[in-house]
Amino acid sequence: MLNVIICGAPGCGKGTQSDLIVNKYQLKHLSTGDLLRKEMADKTELGQIAEGYISKGQLVPDQMIIDILAKNIEAFGNDINGIILDGFPRTVAQAEALESMMAKNNKTINVLVDLSVEKDELIDRLIKRGQTSGRSDDNLETITKRLEVYQTQTAPVSDFYRNLNKYAAIDGMGTIDEIFGRISAVLDSNL
Ligand code: AP5
Ligand code: MG
Repeated sequence: MLNVIICGAPGCGKGTQSDLIVNKYQLKHLSTGDLLRKEMADKTELGQIAEGYISKGQLVPDQMIIDILAKNIEAFGNDINGIILDGFPRTVAQAEALESMMAKNNKTINVLVDLSVEKDELIDRLIKRGQTSGRSDDNLETITKRLEVYQTQTAPVSDFYRNLNKYAAIDGMGTIDEIFGRISAVLDSNL
């Protein structure tokens, strides 16, 4: 099994690269952001709570996210090649919950792929996407807040996996194909 975390700042290319990884390695994709946006579109109670946080660029409370994730991982069953987690874990508390969930199921995370992209490029990509995405968080004010939240709450997750020797830093600047080549080299070495 190949279980991968893809992380990095808002707009670094997690979703874009996840699609390519899913295709090449036949993994199941789990994006907590996508799951929350689906709840919002369906106007569920959870979606309405999440909307308040997302539109302000804040993280949704840990326990809410851990519950959603556990439910969705279970639904995949055991007969899969692996999972790619996109946008989770986003806090050290989420990483700890993930590790105990995996251990309980005799599974393990192979590697965390950390995409690094310059701040100006992140903002350019998200502003551009905001012209068509309809995402309530793709505006300059919320993007700025998301970048701040990333630095204070999510960046420590990289250290958590660095300490477990499961960390790969990837240069996230360049063309989508160039970046995918760099990620593939790391994943191939974990097969
Ligand atoms: P989430 O949906 O995870 O958003 P994010 O982390 O802010 O990241 P994005 O989805 O905006 O960017 P991405 O890295 O996927 O980049 P993409 O490939 O789209 O989370 C949203 C919110 O939900 C959070 O703020 C939080 O409130 C909540 N949430 C989610 N998970 C949570 C959790 N675990 N705990 C608590 N709260 C949680 O690329 C961006 C753009 O750039 C695209 O238009 C793309 O086409 C373009 N692009 C991609 N690669 C390149 C390239 N190489 N060159 C040029 N353009 C490129
Ligand atoms: Mg995304």
